[in-house]
Amino acid sequence: MENKKFYITTPIYYPSGKFHIGTAYATTLADCINRYKKLQGYDTYFLTGLDEHGQKVQTVAEGRGLTPQAHVDEMADSAKKLWKLMDISNNDFIRTTEKRHEEVVDKVVEKFLANGDIYKGQYEGWYCMPCENYFTETQLVDGKCPDCGREVKLMKEESYFFNMKKYQSWLEEFYDENPDFIVPESRKKEIFNNFIKPGLEDLCISRTTFDWGIKMKNDPKHVLYVWVDALTNYISALGYMTEDDSLFKKFWPADVHIVGKEIIRFHGIYWPIFLKALGLEMPKKIYAHSWLVMKDGKMSKSKGNVIYPETLIDRYGLDALKYYLLKTMQYATDSIFTPEDFVDKYNYDLCNDLGNLLNRTIGMVNKYFGGKVYTEFEENEQDAELMKFTDEQIAKFEKNMDELYISNALSSIWKIISRTNKYIDETMPWILAKEEKTERLKAVMFHLVENLRKIAILLIPFIPQSAEKIFTQLGINEDARKWDTLKENNAIENGLTVIEKGEPLFMRLDTEVEVEFIKETMKA
Ligand code: ME8
Ligand code: MG
Repeated sequence: MENKKFYITTPIYYPSGKFHIGTAYATTLADCINRYKKLQGYDTYFLTGLDEHGQKVQTVAEGRGLTPQAHVDEMADSAKKLWKLMDISNNDFIRTTEKRHEEVVDKVVEKFLANGDIYKGQYEGWYCMPCENYFTETQLVDGKCPDCGREVKLMKEESYFFNMKKYQSWLEEFYDENPDFIVPESRKKEIFNNFIKPGLEDLCISRTTFDWGIKMKNDPKHVLYVWVDALTNYISALGYMTEDDSLFKKFWPADVHIVGKEIIRFHGIYWPIFLKALGLEMPKKIYAHSWLVMKDGKMSKSKGNVIYPETLIDRYGLDALKYYLLKTMQYATDSIFTPEDFVDKYNYDLCNDLGNLLNRTIGMVNKYFGGKVYTEFEENEQDAELMKFTDEQIAKFEKNMDELYISNALSSIWKIISRTNKYIDETMPWILAKEEKTERLKAVMFHLVENLRKIAILLIPFIPQSAEKIFTQLGINEDARKWDTLKENNAIENGLTVIEKGEPLFMRLDTEVEVEFIKETMKA
């Protein structure tokens, strides 16, 4: 039998400041995929956490007058609090300062040393502190960091290197044999053409210029450079090379690593090579998502254009934020946040399309049948057409989800919502009632409730709280909330009773007021 396990990860974030909605997006995306797989019956494991070492974190802590440890402890608490507030379904939260992680990193480095993958040398290069990355002269753009555009510094130090060159031909072959290893395709091409094909450079993996990191056991004045430390989190959290490695045995290799496009190089080159050096299996897929940016570029405190998830959740509810992020972010291109777009999506998609469909349906079932839904009725081609359309969209939804076109998957759901709203206009239940066509009216009410049930199932990965509310208002039992019942039309029991008075899922917003509100919070 096929092993239905699924392991998904987010990047482990630097605890250098409060998380904005861009960071929240990466976690929300992973959460959505995790919930989707869970819904389909997979045994899932979802990991997130913090990348707590490195010079940048040390500098931030010092700036706050705190020890690095006190700073990261505080940040870890607030990160955990945020993910709780956002109802994130992670199974574990790894911190690279934890003993369980450091011990695995020690063993990994030991193995690299024993196999001759690591050697001592001299490093000279242009260093970007915020990115914690060295660049060669030619990689710089106008003398600045090619990734973030900030100042770089010429630095020279004794360092340990990982012999990447040794794995050049293996990596090229691996890419040949696994064309979908990195998606989107455009990102794969980028790293293949710009970094792999021209020939790999050995990677500097240690520093002697700061000490907030894991010390190399064989040479303790060297602190590990963040990427060996950071990437190892994906296996240390599973207990790799520890006494209890049952999670590792069960869940490795990862099914998807979710990463931002700016760190694809580390995940697409160094990570596979580290794993190869350890004799481990490769992750099945790396999804390099794009960025959420503002009209004036990247979100940054200094620009005064940062949006924090808490602000939006406080005022509009969690599902408003989740829906916005998952709908707005496109498969392969950056997306721009605007307050207008946020409010529009809330008003049109959530409030009008979805909210009204539920409200109208519940209102009619109460009015015509005292809240009861019947499964015996007179069916006609209007119903058949609606069902056919719904089935087609469900198939498209599944394909979109499996290929990680998350926003498109939401579009498939909204097509069903619109089509179902249109079905009300077509069938004109108020006329059926007036003409006392009770059997026909039963059919229409059934199909509305049935489609809302399916819509709610499809919404579970995206806006689970609203899905739950829809189920509750419709009186849908646990069994009829399952994925497998999407493909049947007999999950509803005869005489199902909907709630007497539906609670609106989303309250209509005053666009002008709310746009102003969001703009104000950016300045704060
Ligand atoms: O790179 N839009 O950590 P980091 C979309 N510690 N996603 C965004 C975003 C935005 N505006 N801003 C951040 C690191 N992200 C390393 C990772 S992994 C072994 C080590 C998300 O704090 C996106 O997923 O800079 C990005 O890759 C991640 O946050 C970077 O977080
Ligand atoms: Mg970053």
